[in-house]
Amino acid sequence: MLLSSATHDRIRAEIAHYPNPRGALLFALHQARDELGRLGRDAYAEVGAIFGMRAGEVAEVASFYSLFTQPSAKAVIQVCTNLPCCLRGARGLVELLEHQIGAKAGASSPDGRFAISEVECLGSCGTAPVVQVNRNPYLENVTPDLIAELTASPEAAIAARHPAPIISIIPDGVDGYLLPPNGAKWLTLDDYRNHGGYQAVVKAGQMTPKDIANLVKDAGLRGRGGAGFVTGLKWTFMPPKDDRPRYLAVNADESEPGTFKDRQIMERNPHLMLEGIMIASMAIEANAAFIYIRGEYVDAYQILRNAIGEAYRAGILGDNALGFGRRFDIHIQPGAGAYICGEESGMLESMEGRKGQPRKRPPFPAQKGLWGQPTTVDNAETVSHVPSIIMRGADWFKAEGAEKAAGHTLFGISGHVQRPGVYELKLGVKLRDLIFQYAGGLADGRTVKAVIPGGVSMPVLRGDQIDIAMDHESVRKVNTLLGTAGVIVMDDRTCMVRAALVIARFFEHESCGQCTQCREGTGWLYRVLTRIERGDGRMEDLATIVDTASYLEGKCICALSDAAAWAASNFLRQFRPEFEAHIEQHRCPLPESFSI
Ligand SMILES: Cc1cc2nc3c(=O)[nH]c(=O)nc-3n(C[C@H](O)[C@H](O)[C@H](O)COP(=O)(O)O)c2cc1C
Ligand code: SF4
Ligand code: FES
Repeated sequence: MLLSSATHDRIRAEIAHYPNPRGALLFALHQARDELGRLGRDAYAEVGAIFGMRAGEVAEVASFYSLFTQPSAKAVIQVCTNLPCCLRGARGLVELLEHQIGAKAGASSPDGRFAISEVECLGSCGTAPVVQVNRNPYLENVTPDLIAELTASPEAAIAARHPAPIISIIPDGVDGYLLPPNGAKWLTLDDYRNHGGYQAVVKAGQMTPKDIANLVKDAGLRGRGGAGFVTGLKWTFMPPKDDRPRYLAVNADESEPGTFKDRQIMERNPHLMLEGIMIASMAIEANAAFIYIRGEYVDAYQILRNAIGEAYRAGILGDNALGFGRRFDIHIQPGAGAYICGEESGMLESMEGRKGQPRKRPPFPAQKGLWGQPTTVDNAETVSHVPSIIMRGADWFKAEGAEKAAGHTLFGISGHVQRPGVYELKLGVKLRDLIFQYAGGLADGRTVKAVIPGGVSMPVLRGDQIDIAMDHESVRKVNTLLGTAGVIVMDDRTCMVRAALVIARFFEHESCGQCTQCREGTGWLYRVLTRIERGDGRMEDLATIVDTASYLEGKCICALSDAAAWAASNFLRQFRPEFEAHIEQHRCPLPESFSI
């Protein structure tokens, strides 16, 4: 036996939480990798024996996830090289690491002590550049000095801990209800209860499921996971209650580059999210809720697990939860490094212990979701708004936001601003104010050249388009979307071809590969943009970008292909002369731009 009996016990205890044991497969693979340092044939066979699967089947699932396929070494140093981290010097850190360790990114050092891995957005763009060693808590705002500390020895790299700075803020004058004030963390049940926690769920317990859904619908809460769908309305799509189990699946995968807000709730106010989950579950009459959290969020995972454990011990969860006479459970499942598992049906596949490949719809999750049962998928931030709506009412919530976009949201702002971070503000705040008043503007008198308003999937804006309100309807007037409200700011030195290329590389890497257009098209966009950026482009390449985007949009199983199309075609639409200059001059005309 390769794995210790303690590991076997942990896996068996985890299996007990799921209607089908495979719900614990990713958890088991993490346990195996953490213990053995790498996963190979023997580990797959041993894990497979627990789940009644062949080693090959386990290997096939594992091979889908980047956290299970990293190079093996005692200390694997992962550097995020997505756009916000590259804008703040990530490439320089990779080069420094390569120099000091004597290995190229993607490989292990000759002595097998270190490996360097370039990874996609770690959901911490406000503290870019970000590094993670093995599955330890993140190292944030990383400097060359810290790289020197990490490369001293694998033991030093593994031991390195630098507490995460508090970067989520309720600005003065805002009556915050998502974040604790003054940088506080309400991690324990007592902390949360001392601030009014778990009163809303008791109040909701006196309401009918229909009344809860109608109240949240009247309040106008829209999903904060990217698509902005009306939450209360989505809840009404669940079929009438019958004797089948039904579930709430909470999306805490947070992998859209530029987005780092759900983590702030989970790490600072975990019981708020749990209370929101309980109320949402009452509205849809769910028997249990499952939180799917990205595998790299080790701190948030542990904080939530602790909070869930406390809630069970206090009788808030479990048999006769809160004294309402019925059982209610919440469990948490780790992902393993695949952006596509944030797409709701890819997430359901992953939660069931498979490759996270999106499902064809219909049937929609409300008809056939987790383990084939009626399921609603809500984002982690979305459910966290619900307790305040229950306590303070629909009119209050509507007054806290913009028309057709009620309430606050957690705006993440990263890139070339002086105070990157997460700001709890009313929807409808001006983009200009977000950049200059809250995030402190740009350094050294630089000017805004481009802004992505809601994660890299959303169409880019030019610097002269920032006088808009940040709500779902207003941003449409300038042909973009609010997405996750993760704002990425680029200054006047930034090469737009390079920015588009980093994003295209991301989509090419994250396409799950099951649709031909997406698999091939994201690769085409990446290769054409690479050629233009290198100075080898041709004018026909610009038409190829437009053409390829048109083959991707609306033609595939999920919206990743649309996102890839929008990103590339909108950079070209907004900054065409710069693309042409690259081709005409056979080089990048912006010598001071960031490196990729
Ligand atoms: C490629 C892709 C990635 C996504 N990633 C996330 C994610 O990380 N977190 C999230 O909540 N929603 C994500 N979504 C949106 C989900 O599919 C879904 O709409 C959302 O979880 C629903 O919750 P909401 O209504 O509360 O926003 C993604 C969608 C796509 C197409
Ligand atoms: S569009 Fe792309 S990511 Fe989505 S299912 Fe198809 S291949 Fe996978
Ligand atoms: S953490 Fe690096 S881009 Fe988001």
